[in-house]
Amino acid sequence: MSTYFKSVVPALATLSLLFLGASCCRSSQNKAQSQAQDKNSVPVYLDDSKPIEERVDDALARMTTEEKIGIIHAQSKFSSAGVPRLGIPEFWTDDGPHGVRPDVFWDEWDQAGCTNDSCTAFPALTALAATWNPELSELYGKSLGEEGRYRKKDMILGPGVNIYRTPLGGRNFEYMGEDPFLASIMVVPYVKGLQSNGVAACVKHYALNNQELNRHTTNVTVDDRALYEIYLPAFKAAVQKGHAWGIMGSYNQYKGYFNCQNPYLLNDILKKEWSFDGVVVSDWGGTQDSEQAIRNGLDMEFGTWTNGLNTSKSDAYNNYFMAGPYLEMIKSGKIGEDELNDKARRVLRVMFRTSMDRQKPYGSFTSPEHYDAARKIGSESVVLLKNDGGVLPIKSSAKKILVVGENAVKMMTVGGGSSSLKVKVEVSPLQGIKERFKDAEVTYERGYVGDVKSEYNGVESGQDLLENRSYEQLWTDAVIAAESSDYVIFIGGLNKSGHQDAEGGDRESMDLPYDQDSLITILSGANRNLVVVNMSGNAVAMPWIDKVPAVVQDWYLGSMAGTSLADVLSGDVNPSGKLPFTFPVVMSDGPIKTESQYPGVEGKEINSAIGPVKIIEENYSEGLFVGYRWFESKNVKPLFPFGYGLSYTTFEIGEAKASRESLSGAGEYSASAKPVEKWAKGKTLKITVPVKNTGAVAGAEVVQLYISDTESSLVRPAKELKGFKKIFLNAGESAEVSFEITPDLLCYFNDTKHCWVAEAGEFKAIIGNSSENVATEVKFDLK
Ligand code: BGC
Repeated sequence: MSTYFKSVVPALATLSLLFLGASCCRSSQNKAQSQAQDKNSVPVYLDDSKPIEERVDDALARMTTEEKIGIIHAQSKFSSAGVPRLGIPEFWTDDGPHGVRPDVFWDEWDQAGCTNDSCTAFPALTALAATWNPELSELYGKSLGEEGRYRKKDMILGPGVNIYRTPLGGRNFEYMGEDPFLASIMVVPYVKGLQSNGVAACVKHYALNNQELNRHTTNVTVDDRALYEIYLPAFKAAVQKGHAWGIMGSYNQYKGYFNCQNPYLLNDILKKEWSFDGVVVSDWGGTQDSEQAIRNGLDMEFGTWTNGLNTSKSDAYNNYFMAGPYLEMIKSGKIGEDELNDKARRVLRVMFRTSMDRQKPYGSFTSPEHYDAARKIGSESVVLLKNDGGVLPIKSSAKKILVVGENAVKMMTVGGGSSSLKVKVEVSPLQGIKERFKDAEVTYERGYVGDVKSEYNGVESGQDLLENRSYEQLWTDAVIAAESSDYVIFIGGLNKSGHQDAEGGDRESMDLPYDQDSLITILSGANRNLVVVNMSGNAVAMPWIDKVPAVVQDWYLGSMAGTSLADVLSGDVNPSGKLPFTFPVVMSDGPIKTESQYPGVEGKEINSAIGPVKIIEENYSEGLFVGYRWFESKNVKPLFPFGYGLSYTTFEIGEAKASRESLSGAGEYSASAKPVEKWAKGKTLKITVPVKNTGAVAGAEVVQLYISDTESSLVRPAKELKGFKKIFLNAGESAEVSFEITPDLLCYFNDTKHCWVAEAGEFKAIIGNSSENVATEVKFDLK
């Protein structure tokens, strides 16, 4: 683009607006003058006043086949090319989903060594889900979008909404729990908040990527009911209600197709049924074959290993499946340009929404507001699991507080895979507790040694975690210190190293690693005021639960981790987090019973992008019975149920009342129907329930509404979450919470007819404060 053109285009864009407004009253004597101006006028694709679709059409019409190919695949590790000739800028993506990942080199995974990329880390998405507060999800998305925008990223690779299917899943910490309704409600404001900055969301990993073990080779078999009712709703909500501009395909297979080139998931469901108009981005290295990628719905290819074997080759972007080979196929006449035009159109559309949007904000980075947001989300996410005798909050009279455990000091923003960050600030739990309890003597004992690594992907945490003491000595030292303290706060759990909460592998068992169980048991004998803080993104076994008076579920809380935790331990913030997944007593209590369910059994050998691989066949034969749907339907008592969490106050949920005895709307609803914005009056029913804070301090309760279909022609789970409200009440205060029941909340998916069915008959609305704890029920009919 000429210098002249560059400098005049923005000005002309503004002027053209004025001209447009005035054109109707322009007199004929001005015609000549205006014709002269038209010569210099802004092309449609650069004209901000024109609708995006017109601009896309115009840009597309000007582009050569090579230029179209140029924008549908990567040009570096995280960017794709623009159209230099037309002044269409490059497109920059970045992980996601908890903060803006530091920059790597153009064509290498090593750190680029920038000094401007130390970001704010927000709490992990499990924590966000545990707040059960959609307003915080909006704040999260908005704040992260501001950071992304400031760092000139056009797309953030997140959020992740794969359903938590097994407590072994290595990436559960990046997702929003086991329930499709909770994840659907929480994902929408995140996407909207992020995109309000002109930064596209890329909702991942679509779909059925519910484990990390064999993530590149697993072929999932799942019935359509479970697919539509459990595994897809959060993606669908992100697309139809959040209007997500990007979706990332997953590595695994479904029905024998890799999901970045899966005709069922991408073309049939995402693009046709849900009318998705954004881009399908491949997971990094998830593309396997040109023809399938071209025909089956992939729009942008990233991260492919491109020597055709199994290693990376430098600057091989032109070898990508949707680069040189695609062009060859077009030139040889093997394939036409229809698919290419559709892909380029989608890419241009996302560009006009982001990189080409001149009105977008500038963003902000590591601002006080972002730290406040991280802290608030963090402290609202912490879940109080047990608090016998009111051990917590820590009394202000406490003189000696002992903190034990590696997770009290270990930086958790570094590690775990692609969500790893480089942060400016990370307040450790020990630091948070010390800062909050300035008048007490806060001491620290390591207690156990877990992961002493202080580097991940070239980012140094700067910590020296090496330890010379034997386990025996560490335990002895912890016990001696515990005996003379007022409180012992054990802070352990999992961490971000391999086979824990980390990408690329699953956990090997549900047990706590590093023999923490023994240490907790010993500590419970040394001090009565023992608080166990479990930091993880997954359920862990707690064989010592009866010996410990207080247990707190903490998460990876990012930059303000220690401050948020101290907020809750001190009572400055009354805990209001609720579990977004079930804690089973032992793994075998859950729905996964056979090898073919998990981790799968070896199937046929196929040729993948990295050479021959054995496909692992996995059958989700538990169907709908995932998480609490299993525990509640089979009457198996978990250690802690989904939706559970205590407070420092108590709440009373009174009797629920329905506005009427029935609602209409029974019938079939097409799988491709758009969400109904407002249901007709007869098709809604209001349920109200009084809630009272019956304790001595202010706090928040999450009132949960589960639906039970008492007369169904198909088997349904005993209850399913279909509504929740987080309500803040002062001590002694009462309020009324209401829920609107509409036919869509009562549907099951009929896989023979391929549609949603709201079946006439009796239903029960079950209201409580966890999937297990029922406070009140009310029956109604659907007609
Ligand atoms: C992960 C994605 C991530 C991408 C880019 C992949 O390995 O699965 O979640 O966005 O890498 O870092």
